[in-house]
Amino acid sequence: MTDTPPLLVRPAREEDLDRLAALEAEAFPDPWTRELLAEELLQPQAIVLTAGRPGGPAEGYVSLRHGGGEAEILRLAVDSAARRRGVARALVAAGLAAASRAGAAVCHLEVRTTNAGAIAFYETLGFTAVGSRKGYYRDGTDALVLAKEL
Ligand SMILES: CC(C)(COP(=O)(O)OP(=O)(O)OC[C@H]1O[C@@H](n2cnc3c(N)ncnc32)[C@H](O)[C@@H]1OP(=O)(O)O)[C@@H](O)C(=O)NCCC(=O)NCCS
Repeated sequence: MTDTPPLLVRPAREEDLDRLAALEAEAFPDPWTRELLAEELLQPQAIVLTAGRPGGPAEGYVSLRHGGGEAEILRLAVDSAARRRGVARALVAAGLAAASRAGAAVCHLEVRTTNAGAIAFYETLGFTAVGSRKGYYRDGTDALVLAKEL
């Protein structure tokens, strides 16, 4: 049996947009469109990273914003066929490192209170609950606010 090729994390580029939109469509009930993703890539305070094996499609991506000494994870999606292999962990580690280099001292994010898998994932990285937002999502689901000092 051959070893799994290494996972490479790098900044997303315009040619990744179709793949990012496909990851969004699979992962979220309210996916970001290709157009929205294209706008995000142009934002100076955005950090958008993809992870994949050499020569293969992106297996996941993360999108953060930073500013004013803080960062926020806006999106995180891993292909359902590539989950539980450390892809999200590598993406978030690289995203938090980039945000820290850009001056962020803390990172926040909102997650659906119903998304037990994502909450468990963020807890393994040291995020803790700091609040909640009732009816935050368009379908009425509440959000849990998680935070981690960088
Ligand atoms: C949440 C998500 C990003 C995790 O991606 P992933 O690449 O599978 O996560 P990792 O393999 O890096 O997980 C690292 C650790 O987090 C925890 N974890 C990850 N997913 C988990 C789950 N569904 N249930 C419980 N724990 C989980 C585990 O401790 C895991 O380590 P282990 O596999 O050795 O047990 C992925 O399930 C996903 O894309 N979900 C849909 C979109 C979403 O919910 N995004 C987050 C909200 S913004």
